[in-house]
Amino acid sequence: MLRTSTLLRQVPVACRTLALAPASRRTFTSSLLRLKPALTSKGTDVSGSAGVEGLHRKDTPSATAVLETQSGEKVDVSAGVPSIVKGDWVLFHPVYSPEELRAVQVLHHEAKTFSDKIAVYFVRLLRWSFDLVSGYKHKPLPPNSNNMSLEELREGGYIMTEHAWLSRMLFLESIAGVPGMVAATLRHLRSLRLMRRDAGWIHTLLEEAENERMHLMTFMAVRKPSWFFRMLVLGAQGVFYNLFFFSYLVSPRTCHRFVGLLEEEAVVTYTRCIQEIEAGHVPKWENYPAPAIAIDYWRMKPDAKLLDVIYAVRSDESTHRFVNHSLANINPDKDVNPFALREPNMLVKGGKLAFERDEAEQYVEESLHMIDEGRQKHDDPQQSQHQQSQHRQA
Ligand SMILES: [Fe+2]
Ligand SMILES: [Fe+2]
Repeated sequence: MLRTSTLLRQVPVACRTLALAPASRRTFTSSLLRLKPALTSKGTDVSGSAGVEGLHRKDTPSATAVLETQSGEKVDVSAGVPSIVKGDWVLFHPVYSPEELRAVQVLHHEAKTFSDKIAVYFVRLLRWSFDLVSGYKHKPLPPNSNNMSLEELREGGYIMTEHAWLSRMLFLESIAGVPGMVAATLRHLRSLRLMRRDAGWIHTLLEEAENERMHLMTFMAVRKPSWFFRMLVLGAQGVFYNLFFFSYLVSPRTCHRFVGLLEEEAVVTYTRCIQEIEAGHVPKWENYPAPAIAIDYWRMKPDAKLLDVIYAVRSDESTHRFVNHSLANINPDKDVNPFALREPNMLVKGGKLAFERDEAEQYVEESLHMIDEGRQKHDDPQQSQHQQSQHRQA
């Protein structure tokens, strides 16, 4: 029997292959579109084929293609040629129920340790720079706001145009995709260098980086930024990537806290945006259709709106908030990533900031128990059924 205090460190990462949580597997079907020229990368505003971001070959049944050789033998040459795309074309990411989309709360982590306080300081600095560059303002509405027109509210700096909201989102997302990739790179290099297992962190970090990039691709489908804006992003990326890289080498825990705090700000921004749209302050977006790339990514209904997309993005940010604060609460050198096997749903992640270390440990124990149950069902289905019926009778 494993000691509870060490359990978190001893989960074999290979357990991931046991297909633990069927709920986390996604299935979708999409027809392969014949877009010309086929080899040309598609724009973010174009409905690309399901493989536009990389195809998951394991889930793609091959087209039937049989050739007859000179000797009359029939040979299947279809391997790897998909006829139906059914499965993932991106890394794992949650798809939300309507209840989950509305379960996200604005929460804030109270800084207690010195490392937390450093993270808070840097987030404030970054937030101030974001606000300056993206022209973001959020003054409380004046008492007579009901008698003011949208134009007057905008001129008074109380509400923002959809153009200003997009500047904010595009800049935020272009930076938000950096930390996960840097952290995954450094953990990957560390694993190679020390010839040690990574304990399941790399995938979750890569998933976060890709998820942020998909947010950017989604908002790019709504508006293409100017060259001046792109230059700002270029400069910011150059500075932020290198700063985060060296900071992560020094203190991964502080960096995850920093990202958790930054994601809190993202949840605040998207919550305000949702409130503004629903209050009628961004009229162009009230019925604005969701971009095709977002409908495919979040498995939305064909008639989904941009507002539905922003709800989904806010839920993603809440996941990043939860994951990074939780990772900041465990030991980056010795502990297993508690989310390597499964993730809590948004009803948990939306209303709770993070797992403390003992909660993370308990979560991993539950995951291992689920794996054991699944293995028993697989090895001896009759015995498993018998146990289940005994359990029901009891
Ligand atoms: Fe994001
Ligand atoms: Fe995020």
